Amino acid sequence: MGKLWGGRFRAATDKLMERFNASLSFDRRLYKADIRGSQAYARALVHAGVLSEAECRQIIAGLDQVLNEFATDTFVFAPGDEDIHTAVERRLGELIGPVSGKLHTGRSRNDQVATDTRLYLLDEIATLQEELTEVQGAIVTQAEAHLDVVMPGYTHLQPAQPVLFSHWLMSYFWMLQRDRERLEGVRRRTAVLPLGASALAGNAFPVDCKALARELGFTTVAQNSIDAVSDRDFVVEFLFWAALLQTHLSRLTEDLILWSNPSLGFVEIDERYATGSSIMPQKRNPDSLELLRGKCGRLDGHVVSLLTVLKGLPSSYDKDLQEDKEPLFDAIDTLHMALPVAAGVIATLRVKGEKMAAALDDGMLATELADYLVLKGIPFRQSHHIVGQAVRRAEESGYTLRTMPLEVYREIDPRFGPDLYQALDVRRAINRRRVPCGTAPQAVKRQIARARELLTTAPTRP
Ligand code: ARG
Repeated sequence: MGKLWGGRFRAATDKLMERFNASLSFDRRLYKADIRGSQAYARALVHAGVLSEAECRQIIAGLDQVLNEFATDTFVFAPGDEDIHTAVERRLGELIGPVSGKLHTGRSRNDQVATDTRLYLLDEIATLQEELTEVQGAIVTQAEAHLDVVMPGYTHLQPAQPVLFSHWLMSYFWMLQRDRERLEGVRRRTAVLPLGASALAGNAFPVDCKALARELGFTTVAQNSIDAVSDRDFVVEFLFWAALLQTHLSRLTEDLILWSNPSLGFVEIDERYATGSSIMPQKRNPDSLELLRGKCGRLDGHVVSLLTVLKGLPSSYDKDLQEDKEPLFDAIDTLHMALPVAAGVIATLRVKGEKMAAALDDGMLATELADYLVLKGIPFRQSHHIVGQAVRRAEESGYTLRTMPLEVYREIDPRFGPDLYQALDVRRAINRRRVPCGTAPQAVKRQIARARELLTTAPTRP
């Protein structure tokens, strides 16, 4: 069968050009959005006086049949099907005859593809919100179950101060909460209807765009047809959102990879998320975590790839825009696996409190000692210096801060008293940090309660 646009052409398209031009191999997944959009558009054409009620019913029933063919995997693509829009329209023609030719009145594939992509993404965003919430839920559940576990906190990956394991874990909840809120912002800007923009200048028939938006679940309609057909900001934003989310997951997994190393042994990855080695029988590798870290490569690449396509693109629709889909679909597919895997790894994680406790050394209490001197009236900058000397002396003489005798402390500074040893207590160090964002148990419990609240509410903030 001839091309939809074949009227003015004499020569057949070059075979390789045909393949180069086609997007069907990847945009076929838009079939549902395309059919939904067309059914709504048929109703809009009745309102515009282009279709009779009977013709509209015929078109809608025909499209239902096409949809059914896709759903039952019986849809047969024809060699000339350039993209999903032409495939659906071609099949509709075969099923209901010439009346199908009225469906495209006033519409262009330019506003059609923009509408389809937005509809498709809106659906996926709803699923991704749920998947993301699952990861957050797994974090909160583990944090709640291990409130008594203390671990070394690190800066520069060097032992810093003791923290609650739950406090560390919850730090990732808040990164993901921002992702959840950010996705809501992307959703709002995706829910803008471009249908009615036509090729670039606007539909010449009086279709009711607001009714179309309502019917298709868009919250508002585009204000400018030239912008509407070429706006892919929502895809860029989504890709950035995906890249940043994956970046957060990669930080979490990097921590877990280090901690699951037997020489630290703070956590154990469940066997369901580990793999073995083909040569070393003892191996138990955290491949789930490594892949969660590694997926950043492709997701970062997708943002750059689409930004590069859009840079300097002439106004309105250009075929370059067809290049938006593969990055978008790949990002969606990647996250539909990454998020459930992340949730599973976290939910099944074994937490080794004893190993963490064993890794706490007295050095991590040096700040406590400095604060002890502060409470005796010594300015912090001085107390920091004095404790620095104590740390060095302990190191040189084979003591730890807790085993070093009082006389030695007094040689360094006579203001040290026997009560200094009370300051050198891990629990005390943790309990003192009661500020809202601190690691004291009461503060962490409040943090968890707030997180639970947020999980049960919709992420409405921008
Ligand atoms: N497959 C095209 C795309 O994804 C559909 C729009 C084609 N429009 C056109 N004027 N050729 O962008």
